[in-house]
Amino acid sequence: MTARDVLPGTGALPGAPATTQPAGRLLEVSGLTTRFDTPDGLVHAVNGVDFHVDRAEIVGVVGESGCGKSVTIRSILGLVRPPGRVVDGTAMFDGVDLLGLRGAQLRRLRGRQIGFIAQNPFSALNPVLRIHRQFANIMAAHGVRSGGTARDRARTALADVGIAGPDRVLDGYPHQLSGGMAQRVVIAMAMLLDPALVVADEPTTGLDLTVQRQILDLIRGLVQQHGRSMLLVTHDLGVVAQYCDRVVVMYAGKVIEHGAVRDVLNTPRHPYTQALIRAVPRPGQPLVHLTGRLPDLVDYPRGCPFQARCPDAFAPCDHVIPEAATVGGGQTYWCHLSKEPEVVR
Ligand SMILES: Nc1ncnc2c1ncn2[C@@H]1O[C@H](COP(=O)(O)OP(=O)(O)OP(=O)(O)O)[C@@H](O)[C@H]1O
Ligand SMILES: [Mg+2]
Repeated sequence: MTARDVLPGTGALPGAPATTQPAGRLLEVSGLTTRFDTPDGLVHAVNGVDFHVDRAEIVGVVGESGCGKSVTIRSILGLVRPPGRVVDGTAMFDGVDLLGLRGAQLRRLRGRQIGFIAQNPFSALNPVLRIHRQFANIMAAHGVRSGGTARDRARTALADVGIAGPDRVLDGYPHQLSGGMAQRVVIAMAMLLDPALVVADEPTTGLDLTVQRQILDLIRGLVQQHGRSMLLVTHDLGVVAQYCDRVVVMYAGKVIEHGAVRDVLNTPRHPYTQALIRAVPRPGQPLVHLTGRLPDLVDYPRGCPFQARCPDAFAPCDHVIPEAATVGGGQTYWCHLSKEPEVVR
């Protein structure tokens, strides 16, 4: 299985070699743990997640629905609401622990240094305010004085995301925009204050395929052009192959593998990553479905969270949490198959 297989027909491979030295760390998440206290019990949504994003790097986060991608990034951005709570970990961003910031401090950082592009653009836009007012509010909230008027700056931001005739958009309301247009507006807002990190949670869900690619090309262009970094959450390994330098694979609220995209997609080490890659649709070939379901996040498994679905599970998987194994240029995975079976009780 290769990255080329994941993107049938395009032959596209990510640019970054496996051994690239980081140009400098921008975000380092360690031990991130988030729970939801629900009437059914404590949901173990995110369980000791570690990963990093270097400067000028695009990192993809993949995994099937419910595996904790959104809760992970929402935790980092201080957007988890009760009954959710970040109970442990750090998220060092440019020397500051985001998890230690409160209210106004965090709001100041979000927008200014970290731009967030949510899955549903309409949830990020205020339905009762004209678009130009929303741009002006962002600038006012961050005390930004632009060279020209706020409107000039908004016009430029919209032109940067390929909106011709920005005045019509600025004078309108969100409901007058198509999904693709609304997402462009949200991208323009996320980029407005020149953030060092852009966080995008499935930014193209619900858009048709052509628009999806246009939007992803646009985001990547804006990220790369300004030497920014991006954390890109997606279900789609094709998107990872085409747009990301490194990838973090999540399962049941844990990182089970990460590394350079070409390493992880060409030689996936974890059986879950292997299953995800097998499940990518390929023209002319029968669809392969991922069988089984995520474990119960209330009654969280003791050993490897993937054990119940793993074709190769053996005794230790049931009760021993796998340790990290690293190969090659930093590809890391958590699986007992990486070493000799341990002596079992
Ligand atoms: N408000 C909440 N209350 C209880 N549980 C929650 C809440 N929000 C999220 N969860 C649980 O946290 C887990 C992770 O959810 P999350 O939204 O991060 O998944 P995801 O990987 O982003 O999925 P998708 O690909 O569908 O967006 C899920 O089991 C979900 O049920
Ligand atoms: Mg999600």
